[in-house]
Amino acid sequence: MADSQSSGSVDDRRRHRNAVTKAAVLTAVGGILFGYDTGVVGGVLPNIAADFSLVSPFDKGLVVSILLAGAAVGAIVAGRIADELGRRRAIFIISIVFVVGLLMSALAPALWVFWLSRFIIGLGVGATSFVVPLYIGEIAPPERRGGLVSLNQLSITMGILISQLVAYFLAGHGDWRVSVALALLPAVILGVGVLSEPESPAWLIRQGREDEARTVLRTLRDSDDEIDEEIADVRGVAREESKGSVGDLLDRRLRPALTLGVILAVIQQITGINTVIYFAPTVLQEGGLGRSAALLALVIVGVTNVLMTIVAVRYLDRVGRRPLLIWGMIGMTVGLVALATAFAIGIKGSAVFATIALAFYVGSFAVSLGPIVWLLIAEIFPLRVRGQAASIATMANWSANLVVAVSYLSIIAAVGRTGTFVIYAAVTVLSLMYVIAKVPETKGLQLSEVEAVISPEHEPERRAA
Ligand code: BGC
Repeated sequence: MADSQSSGSVDDRRRHRNAVTKAAVLTAVGGILFGYDTGVVGGVLPNIAADFSLVSPFDKGLVVSILLAGAAVGAIVAGRIADELGRRRAIFIISIVFVVGLLMSALAPALWVFWLSRFIIGLGVGATSFVVPLYIGEIAPPERRGGLVSLNQLSITMGILISQLVAYFLAGHGDWRVSVALALLPAVILGVGVLSEPESPAWLIRQGREDEARTVLRTLRDSDDEIDEEIADVRGVAREESKGSVGDLLDRRLRPALTLGVILAVIQQITGINTVIYFAPTVLQEGGLGRSAALLALVIVGVTNVLMTIVAVRYLDRVGRRPLLIWGMIGMTVGLVALATAFAIGIKGSAVFATIALAFYVGSFAVSLGPIVWLLIAEIFPLRVRGQAASIATMANWSANLVVAVSYLSIIAAVGRTGTFVIYAAVTVLSLMYVIAKVPETKGLQLSEVEAVISPEHEPERRAA
């Protein structure tokens, strides 16, 4: 079969390990763009509003929601690109979209250019949110996949934190254009970086380019046995599966995975995370804290988000996805109930308690729904439609994000802050019940084995085909 190559010295193993880590870290820069571009607006919105004379809450809301709508569209478009042109080219194209959108935004001479630029940045954010996890999931060996894919979530949280720090230090200065333009740096690093990384071996095999896949795998895996096994597995799946057409997305056998992916993606949003990420400064300010104190609280939340994501990266492949997901969602519920209580007491008198509750909620999200939803979206779909199916789940995620962002202030107006967070707590409990019933453990499995775990009832049929 393959030219023989020993299972490798310690040096070889280290080299392979480092090559995988480097590719994962470099592409995870996409997460920084995701986090920074969605986070920065919360802090600089007042300055943007002043510059473009946006007065109505509707217009201000548009600054957030146009990006989210762009992300939903970007997710759908990128699914096909990632399946047809490859993961690596898709990531390169995404970086160009970011550069164009960011330049337009930072230089926008008129309001309509600014709106358009927000949409274009959104396209990039939506596309990067699943193509990067998909790529990392396919180059990572199974026993490291959870942690490596979640480096993307770690970058998202770092992007959010950096955006919060920028907002905090620029508070009062008003130069929002500089804040926006800062994201050009990661956009360029992502585009230039991905060119030096290999294409996903699974995608190459699916294209019938097995020799290239083998060459790539030799730089990423330790032994020929491992490489042969991986190629045989992926080839087996690829042969059984028909060409990845749009019709395949309607295939009965894909339904369990698609349902799971879409519902998890929606759960990640309707349990309220971005009301905190996007609106915390506004809410705390309206609750009586000063602008700087509110931003400081936000930074505390941001640091917790990063630190707890590091915990997730370390433990996902050891304890598995399910325990982290379940315990994290229990923690989120506790945090939300505490937050509702703080609002009931009055935020001014309970500022410290409210900040701890916020941090507890965000920290619990960071070990559970934050990283694991994106990880599962990258893991659970069969290779033939992986890009397109992941893009549908991702579109659901951004659409739910948009609905929450648009409805949040109205819900507060209707039932008050306490009521609002009680609602999110109830939604979290219901979501937890779904997760307990439906989410399988995918720790350590080859991606080609995950399919059987998601829809075991179709497995005999698939094997017989
Ligand atoms: C979510 C984002 C959220 C972020 C917070 C991501 O996994 O998709 O909507 O803002 O986590 O860390």
